[in-house]
Amino acid sequence: MPERFVTETIHDKTLDVSLRPSLFADFQGQGKVKERLDLAVQAARQRKESLDHILLSGPPGLGKTTLAHILAKVMDVNIVVTSGPALEKAANLAGLLTKLDKGDVLFIDEIHRLQKVVEEYLYPAMEDFRLDIVIDQGPNAHSVRLNLPRFTLIGATTRSGLLTAPLRSRFPITERLNYYSADELTSIIDRSSRILNVDIDGGGATEIAGRSRGTPRIANNLLKRVRDYAQVKAKSNKITEDIADKALAMLEIDEHGLDEMDKRILETLVHKFGGKPVGISSLAVAVGEEPDTLEEVYEPFLIQEGYLKRTAQGRVPTELTYKKLGVKGNAAGNELF
Ligand SMILES: Nc1ncnc2c1ncn2[C@@H]1O[C@H](COP(=O)(O)OP(=O)(O)O)[C@@H](O)[C@H]1O
Ligand SMILES: [Mg+2]
Repeated sequence: MPERFVTETIHDKTLDVSLRPSLFADFQGQGKVKERLDLAVQAARQRKESLDHILLSGPPGLGKTTLAHILAKVMDVNIVVTSGPALEKAANLAGLLTKLDKGDVLFIDEIHRLQKVVEEYLYPAMEDFRLDIVIDQGPNAHSVRLNLPRFTLIGATTRSGLLTAPLRSRFPITERLNYYSADELTSIIDRSSRILNVDIDGGGATEIAGRSRGTPRIANNLLKRVRDYAQVKAKSNKITEDIADKALAMLEIDEHGLDEMDKRILETLVHKFGGKPVGISSLAVAVGEEPDTLEEVYEPFLIQEGYLKRTAQGRVPTELTYKKLGVKGNAAGNELF
């Protein structure tokens, strides 16, 4: 099955491709999402129809791109990959759409970053499978209607809240991916170790899983870093719990998976702002990170783990944060000494 890659996101490195499951059977976790998508696939295949448009949302590294490729594969169709920022003009989108065959998947990553004009162009394409192309300028301008094959749009976003209502409503299927459990991550690490030819025992896999922020991409990355450590520092060809622990400590990833930036965010909330509500842009400046990255990558995990709360006034640390940092305080955010 030919694959036509138009643009690829920075995440899609060789490692990702080799460890990326290409079948539902190898895709761990997300049971309900998988079941619903598999049902949609089977129904469409039985009817010999194209799959409905699908919106996949969730934090980075949870498997959105992977699922898009699996869906195209099980539907036995081509997948064309692009992203919101790469589609600068409506003409870019028209160029892609007109090359699709019936049933093909157009995958738009970071779909919340589509230009307004491109987005409006997409509406009739999604809904009625037609494009109105404006030809000529000035008094001679007229539009030509082009019929498109029944393609499937798969959109992926880390920020579903930023999608406009008209765009969201044009996706009959919307699925949100959640963070993975330690058990699911352990299975992913086991599978990746087999592919990478790394010897790892149960303790080693569990140790890495527990410190991967619920994220398969991080689990795979940590596995590779721990493998390096085992080989060079521990002079061992097997990853054990002890080796994983030492390697991750060297990487400054704590026992709950919080990394340097997570810790910097929490320390800033507690020490610099004294537990008072902080707006995202002030927080971003204080920790030296982009506001978007804070909201997409760091906050969702810190919120899920109970270290940070979003209030109408801003971000505040929780009692757990105070405990973690060893600071006596209260949930109202007052540092009490
Ligand atoms: N459910 C899963 N099972 C096994 N590996 C996974 C799973 N989800 C993601 N991965 C791994 O994590 C990597 C990142 O996933 P990806 O689909 O690129 O995430 P996203 O597009 O959501 O940022 C993949 O290359 C794959 O190796
Ligand atoms: Mg992706």
